[in-house]
Amino acid sequence: MKHIIPAEITVPEVQRLLQGGIGPRPIALVSTISKEGKNNLTPFSFYNVFGANPPVIAFSPSRRGRDGSLKDTYLNLMDNKECVVQAVTYSMIEQVSLASTEYEYGIDEFVKSGLTPIESDMVKPRRVKESPFQMECRMLEMRSFGNSGTSANIAICEVMKFHVEEDLFVDGVLHPNKIDLVARMSANFYCRAFGENIFEVEKPIAKKGIGYDQIPEFIKNSYVYSANNLGKFGNIESLPSDNAVTDYIKEVKDLIVNDFELSLPAFYRYGRDKNFTYMLKFLLLDTELDSNYKKQLLEETAKIALETNKTETAWKIALYAGREK
Ligand SMILES: Cc1cc2nc3c(=O)[nH]c(=O)nc-3n(C[C@H](O)[C@H](O)[C@H](O)COP(=O)(O)O)c2cc1C
Repeated sequence: MKHIIPAEITVPEVQRLLQGGIGPRPIALVSTISKEGKNNLTPFSFYNVFGANPPVIAFSPSRRGRDGSLKDTYLNLMDNKECVVQAVTYSMIEQVSLASTEYEYGIDEFVKSGLTPIESDMVKPRRVKESPFQMECRMLEMRSFGNSGTSANIAICEVMKFHVEEDLFVDGVLHPNKIDLVARMSANFYCRAFGENIFEVEKPIAKKGIGYDQIPEFIKNSYVYSANNLGKFGNIESLPSDNAVTDYIKEVKDLIVNDFELSLPAFYRYGRDKNFTYMLKFLLLDTELDSNYKKQLLEETAKIALETNKTETAWKIALYAGREK
């Protein structure tokens, strides 16, 4: 490990550390307006949400690293306390990056980036048509820390009105694959929150999981399960009873299915198809596998059940694997 005191390294080094370790950061595309009525549009990745009642968000138009001067967004916000904050999607990221160019005060980055301004309902700054998620905001407070290059100015804002593209919702949830957000990382790296990068983690809030410490040692010591698998095992409220394990095993063994094939190649195929029931059925009916190998394959079967969010079933298979000598 490196052990670093911020005061002992340069400010750009501190900035690079923060940007590398705190990410991926959401990007706020912020539209403000000058006293003269000129549009200003800028991305900020020092940005997040802090509450929903009232809806409070904040971002930091910090002082310029170069000379400690104040950015146009800051000046406009101090002047009229209004902005529109929009989500940045993959299809607009190059134009958004272009909008981050340090143009002189009063230059309209809508014009420079080619993004389209549309009128807002409750505030003067314009919205960005291309963004499917726009928030009209009123600034509650500006908090400043320091007055040199890269010092923070945190604009704390209340959302007065949302504008959201209707087809972003799937079953009432604003779906990541529909909105296709982009986030900022270190240096010139960005990441796209889409496709294989999206996964679900079941919330432990509604229930109280048994915890890692209550997982039997033979499961914790298995090399088949990953740390994430063990975390998920720990998120069950109570372990299935011995009887529940025995009943489930009997049920799968007795299951009558036409397309089932009792062979090791078929077992691997079931694995690729994530069909843990057929995998288990094979392991219960096969008489030739060595017991150590069978235990390992049972654990791999439990792992597949777990990774397809069948946690209760995964536990039954994992506990049954423990019976294998
Ligand atoms: C993706 C992205 C994220 C950025 N995040 C920030 C930020 O959080 N704070 C900041 O002060 N500058 C940030 N910048 C740089 C500003 O966008 C840049 O300084 C801009 O020219 C400021 O514009 P303004 O003077 O019109 O407000 C970011 C740039 C990009 C491309």
